[in-house]
Amino acid sequence: MLPFTRPSIDDAERQAVSEVLASGWLASGPRVEALEQGLEDYLGGGVSVRVFSSATGALEAALLASGVGPGDEVIVPAMSFVATANVVVRFGAIPVFVDVDLVSRNLVIENVERALTPRTRALLPVHFAGRGVDLAALYALAEYHDLRVIEDAAQAIGTAVEGRRVGASGNPVCFSFHPNKNMTTIEGGALASNDAALIRRIERIRFHGIERGADGAMDVPEWGGKMNLPDVGAAIGLVQLSRLDGFNARRRQLARRYIERLPNHPALLLPADVPGHSWHMFCVCIDYEMLGTTRAELQQRLQERGIGTGIHYPAMHLFSLYRGYGYAPGDFPVAERIGEQTLTLPLFPAMTDHDVDRVCNALEALLTTEVEA
Ligand SMILES: Cc1ncc(COP(=O)(O)O)c(C=O)c1O
Repeated sequence: MLPFTRPSIDDAERQAVSEVLASGWLASGPRVEALEQGLEDYLGGGVSVRVFSSATGALEAALLASGVGPGDEVIVPAMSFVATANVVVRFGAIPVFVDVDLVSRNLVIENVERALTPRTRALLPVHFAGRGVDLAALYALAEYHDLRVIEDAAQAIGTAVEGRRVGASGNPVCFSFHPNKNMTTIEGGALASNDAALIRRIERIRFHGIERGADGAMDVPEWGGKMNLPDVGAAIGLVQLSRLDGFNARRRQLARRYIERLPNHPALLLPADVPGHSWHMFCVCIDYEMLGTTRAELQQRLQERGIGTGIHYPAMHLFSLYRGYGYAPGDFPVAERIGEQTLTLPLFPAMTDHDVDRVCNALEALLTTEVEA
C-alpha cells in the first residue's frame, strides 16, 4: 500500500531520541535551543526563531503578540487547513475569507484588496502545499495600508520566493513540523521574526506569560499558554533539518515526474512547478462529474490498486462554524471548486520513480475507463 504521505524516520532520529531519553532532560532544554539556532541558520536573513509545540500555537502567539484582538478583521484565504481561520477566532478577531487562484491555491492580491475595510488589521497568507505566495505584491499592499502580515508557512519549510527562503522576511512566519510536513518534530512548529520585542513577547506567550528578571525572579506580565516543544521532538527535528534539503530535492524530482507522466486529460488539472516550490503535497483537481463518477468512488478504485489519496481541503468558509459568520455556498467559487475536486496523490521522499509511474498509470486507466463507461 502506497500512502499519500509518510515521514522519513531513520536510525539517526532513533539514536537522537534515545540520547535525550538517557540524558534525563526531556522537556524544553538544550535540543530546543540547538534547533532554534539551526533553523535561524537555515532560514537566513538574520531572523530569530522560537519553536513551539505546533504551528497552531505559533500562529496564535504571533496574532496575540501583534495586537490582533476582538473585532479586528484578519484576511485569510478560503482554501487552507482550518487552523488558519481558527487561530483568528481564538482571541476574538474575525476571519475575512478571500478567494484563491485555481492552480497555485494561494490568495489573489486583487481579492485581498477588495476585502480590506477600516477594521482590517492583518493579512494571513498561506503558502499552500509548499508553493510560495507572491510576497512582493502582498507586502507592498500591506505597507500601503499599514497592515501586519503573518505568514502561515505551515506547509512551506524549505520554500523560496524569488531566491529568498520563506521565513527570512523578518515578519512573523510560522512553520509546522507535524509528521506529514517536509520535516517533523512529531508535533511541533516554529515562528521566525527579526523583531526583538515581538520575540520577547512570543517567548512569554509560549510559556504561561512568565518573564524572568536579571536576578531570576519570576513575573507574569500577561497571559500565556503552554506551547513549548519538548527536547525529544527537537532532537528529531535537528536530524530532520540536516536532511531537509535532500528531502525537498527528492520531492521536487517526484513532482516533476508526476507532471511529465500524468495524462493530458480535460478532466484533470495539475499543479504547476515553479522555482522555490518545496512540494509539501501534490494536489490535483479532477472533474468527477465530467467522468460520471464521484471522488469517493475514484478514491476507492485507487485504494483497490494499493494507492492512498487525501483531500486537502474542503473550503473553510463552508464549515458550520464559518457559515455562522454569514458565509454561504457561492461566496468563493474557486475555493469551493478546489474543495469539491481536489485529490492529493502520494508524495514523500522515500517514494521511488516506479511508485509515481504506478500512480500515473492507475489514474490514466481510471480516467479513460470512467469516460468510456
Ligand atoms: C496551512 C496550515 N496552517 C496551520 C496548520 C497547523 O499546524 P499544526 O498541526 O502544527 O498546528 C497546518 C497543519 O496542517 C496547515 O496545513
